[in-house]
Amino acid sequence: MPKLADRYPFPAAEGSHWAVPQDFDVQFNWDYDEGRATMMGLYRKGIEMQWNADTRIDWSQELDEDNPEQLPEEMLPISGMAQYEAMSRAEKAKVRRHFQGWQISQFMQGEQGALICAAKIVTQVPDVDSKFYASTQVIDEARHVESYKRLLEKFGVAYPMTPPLQELIDQVLRDNRWDMTYLGMQVVIEGLALAAFQQIRDHAQNPLAAAVNAYVMQDESRHVAFGRLALRDYYPQLTQKERDEREQFLLEACYLMRDRFDAVEVWKTLGLDPAKCAEHMYDSGFMEMFRSSLFTRIVPIVKDIGLWGSIIRKGYEEMGIIGFAETDVQALQEADDTIAKDFDARRAYVESVVERAKAVEAAE
Ligand SMILES: [Fe+2]
Ligand SMILES: [Fe+2]
Repeated sequence: MPKLADRYPFPAAEGSHWAVPQDFDVQFNWDYDEGRATMMGLYRKGIEMQWNADTRIDWSQELDEDNPEQLPEEMLPISGMAQYEAMSRAEKAKVRRHFQGWQISQFMQGEQGALICAAKIVTQVPDVDSKFYASTQVIDEARHVESYKRLLEKFGVAYPMTPPLQELIDQVLRDNRWDMTYLGMQVVIEGLALAAFQQIRDHAQNPLAAAVNAYVMQDESRHVAFGRLALRDYYPQLTQKERDEREQFLLEACYLMRDRFDAVEVWKTLGLDPAKCAEHMYDSGFMEMFRSSLFTRIVPIVKDIGLWGSIIRKGYEEMGIIGFAETDVQALQEADDTIAKDFDARRAYVESVVERAKAVEAAE
């Protein structure tokens, strides 16, 4: 099998390795007794809910030739655009494969970002219970990179990390304040990722693509809970000025992700005019609907951790996403868990039918 990076239509800007300089103190903590019950509960859950991507997922399943994840056409940003609608069946199939492959590539690349950030949290966070929990997240994130990589191999195309995502990860990693890693990664990037994974989990007719996203989400909702728990305790201790700085950072990160996280590399690779694609997305309301829905999971968390001053509220009002503050995050997290278990049940049922059919055949 060719190397995944050999399938990039253009090489990653920095070649095969990306080095981000670090400037922070690693923290030891000799106080082994202190452990918040909720944090230790989350740690225990993190251990108990480990899974193996090799066995939990049936990798013999294939993607669809014309529409890999079998997604509704309206989830393609340029569906309805004259130039796209005039394409042949084969050309349209290529556009879908590239766009969906680009999206899964960003999931995979972002998961490596999460892996590095979780490891940074282990070393940098002062509390022992947070170090314990974050160490379970490190292995979760490695499994997510692995799962998306194996899914992506089936697309035959892959893309490097998109520049706005790389810019945000770079900023978060260089910051020497431990909570900024949480804010950038656990709140903004993972919050956005959860909403994007959910769109695929809930709308893909392809069972493999849906299952991978459902299983990753089951872990991710624990990660978001961890961010909430750690920051909710910490932010009331800061000064108003320090909280304002965090709000400003959050707002800028949200704007960056909303306005620049688009698939411009895909349109260029396919020989489409990025300006025409952007005009179509704007005029068709795609931006409004899909981009805003990406913030469903972030806004209520920001409110919950106590970064709910005038800077953030005004900004979210302007972005038209303040209404998401009322989202019931707890209910969403419980649903993420139940849905992942439904995928296990489906597979177990299908396998039991295959077993019985074999038994019938053997008896004949
Ligand atoms: Fe992850
Ligand atoms: Fe995560």
